[in-house]
Amino acid sequence: MTANTSSQDALKQAVATAAVAYTLSRIDDKSIVGIGTGSTANCFIDLLAEHKASIAGTVASSQASAERLKAHGIPVYDLNAVDEVTIYVDGADETNPHLELIKGGGAALTREKIVAAVAREFLCIADQSKWVDHLGTFPLPVEVIPMARSHVARELVKLGGDPVYRQGVVTDNGNVILDVHHLHPISPARELEEKINNITGVVTNGLFALRPADVLMLGTAEGVKTLY
Ligand code: 5RP
Repeated sequence: MTANTSSQDALKQAVATAAVAYTLSRIDDKSIVGIGTGSTANCFIDLLAEHKASIAGTVASSQASAERLKAHGIPVYDLNAVDEVTIYVDGADETNPHLELIKGGGAALTREKIVAAVAREFLCIADQSKWVDHLGTFPLPVEVIPMARSHVARELVKLGGDPVYRQGVVTDNGNVILDVHHLHPISPARELEEKINNITGVVTNGLFALRPADVLMLGTAEGVKTLY
């Protein structure tokens, strides 16, 4: 492990610790907590396990997170079985100062977007490497119905992107991912999010601009910063 990786891991741990404290301040024992996907969300899951009696249960944005939650003995519900998600906690691949995000590095973007849409509050947790002035350096993930892959790729080229098929990856929904390079700077992000979602065959894209995070906890060398 490099020094950089270990300091990034420490920042993820710090931000997950702060996120658990924040979450506990927002919920009661009837609350359902939405759980994201990825290494930062995994830190959050492991710390939340110590407080599992404080919540009614969770909904998960991926099979991987559901399995991790269940391994801790934390109840996981189908989203259709719950009336409300009090707070959704998830990482990001990029965040800008408007708390607009790129997500989907872990291929869970569609379920993440669904849980975020339902949640009363969306808390994004990230280390400082994810902070950008303008989105788009991280290739934008797009979940696509398999038979539409070439059509969607051609349409993405018309929008100025350079789509790359993520080989060997099948999403929890049975679809494929195109990672779109060279879109930086993405502005306005809401417009591009809508345009890409309007391409026939696209399930959704990894821009979270129409529904950005409500709160961002950013792990930095100077401590965890909370932005609204
Ligand atoms: C998964 C995601 C993750 O939130 C994103 O990739 C960040 O992951 P990590 O916390 O491992 O850096 O969107 O689809």
